[in-house]
Amino acid sequence: MFRTIRTGSPKKPALLVGLPCGTTRLPKSLAELDESHGGRIKAAMRSRMFKGGLKDLVIQGDDVVLVGLGPSDELDLDLIRQLGGRLVGHLHRADIHGLDVRIHETVPRKIGDADAVGQALAEGMVLANWVVDFFDGKATNRSNASGSLSIGSGDNRMRGGLRRGIVLAESTNDARKIAATPPNICTPTWVAQQARAAAKKHGLQCRVINFAEAKKLGMGGLVNVGIGSANKPCMIILEHKPKRPRPDHRLALVGKTMTYDSGGYSLKISNTMKGMKYDMNGGAAVFGAMIAISRLKLPVHVFGVLPCAENLVSGEAYRPDDIIKMFNGVTVEVTNTDAEGRLILGDALAWTCRKIKPTEIIDVATLTGGVVVGLGHFCAGMWCEDKSLRRRVEAAAESTGEKVWRLPLWEAHRTFMRAQHADLWNSGPSRSAHPIQGAAFLSYFVDEDVPWTHLDIAGVSAVEKADDLHVVGPTGFGVRLLAEVAARTGV
Ligand code: BES
Ligand code: MN
Ligand code: ZN
Repeated sequence: MFRTIRTGSPKKPALLVGLPCGTTRLPKSLAELDESHGGRIKAAMRSRMFKGGLKDLVIQGDDVVLVGLGPSDELDLDLIRQLGGRLVGHLHRADIHGLDVRIHETVPRKIGDADAVGQALAEGMVLANWVVDFFDGKATNRSNASGSLSIGSGDNRMRGGLRRGIVLAESTNDARKIAATPPNICTPTWVAQQARAAAKKHGLQCRVINFAEAKKLGMGGLVNVGIGSANKPCMIILEHKPKRPRPDHRLALVGKTMTYDSGGYSLKISNTMKGMKYDMNGGAAVFGAMIAISRLKLPVHVFGVLPCAENLVSGEAYRPDDIIKMFNGVTVEVTNTDAEGRLILGDALAWTCRKIKPTEIIDVATLTGGVVVGLGHFCAGMWCEDKSLRRRVEAAAESTGEKVWRLPLWEAHRTFMRAQHADLWNSGPSRSAHPIQGAAFLSYFVDEDVPWTHLDIAGVSAVEKADDLHVVGPTGFGVRLLAEVAARTGV
């Protein structure tokens, strides 16, 4: 893999051209290029390896890379992103360090303009170029990342798209990096340090509510969930405040940041605990999205709120049967210490409503195993009773390829969360509609007049099998989606 992928005007770039299935003659726009490149595009086309299929790729000489675009009527931005992902390894192995991207000339316009095509391609390349090697020690002898790749284009719009795609994918990789950091290092305090450093680097404002302050503020959810660990909880607030934001919008993004979830006294049994370092991936997504939003200078006022805690057992830990009082005064009977995410999120959502007074809120959380059973790794679960916000989130998901699917949240689900001896319980006595119970619980902590979306990303925030864009590990799901929602806010 490359050490870096940047935009630029490389000296002797290789051409990147694409042709759909069944192309027999070179389109005019490429015929001239073919001549100036010694007929190597046509030569690549004639190769027996090339039929125009999506996985077909021929490198001719050292200056022509021909990729198949598949059947024209099946092509979309998702496929271009995946193509970018597959491409990067080929380029590295072929020792190609500069690229002149021309594929937009043969991508049907209805799929997207040069800008959109360039963005998708660059996203794919930079996402696929990421590896988890920062904990390799002396026993590892892997071939490390080497060299750099510079991508450019003669087309202005394509260059803009490539640049945006790189920023979005790099921000996603920033999220993946904190997500991949093991829980003995990645503690709530460490996340706060990372947030401060990122804020300084990218021009965000950052403030941290520490454990003592959280206690004083009455954040019973955050305090009780985190109290059993020596690594005490905190809440991080990032703010992107452009000089001239689009008026009348304050978008708040809230991410569940459990640096480890052992389940607490409702302990996770052996093999279900492994992987719970990824229980902070909602917060990581918000962290990455805030970086992207700032780097892209989006003209929207956006807040990122990360309640951070570690759910462990100790003599001080909270227990099933405890009744706790949340930031907004709602009392909760703890029926299960493993339903902890909704407790820290409840405080974060209520605090956000009262202090930030947002015009819309989106929370992102690895909240339930149930959503993994129901929707798998194909999409996130979405709850949103506000039409306009829902359309925005769905449109954003459509364009970034981070898919969401809506589930219901009715009054009946909300009453299901009412308890005998307190306002609510954190988990109902039956496992029915598990992911919806989580959403219903959270709804008690969002002001009724604030449009709100809950995203349960438990199934999509990490992969156990590599694909074209991801190695095994965290995907950074949500970074590009949330940044895209912000871009569409107030337009
Ligand atoms: N962090 C887990 C959810 C989870 C499970 C994420 C698997 C990723 C993969 C969450 O805190 C949890 O433990 N949820 C429980 C809720 C239950 C106790 C009400 C669950 O889903 O079983
Ligand atoms: Mn849990
Ligand atoms: Zn959890």
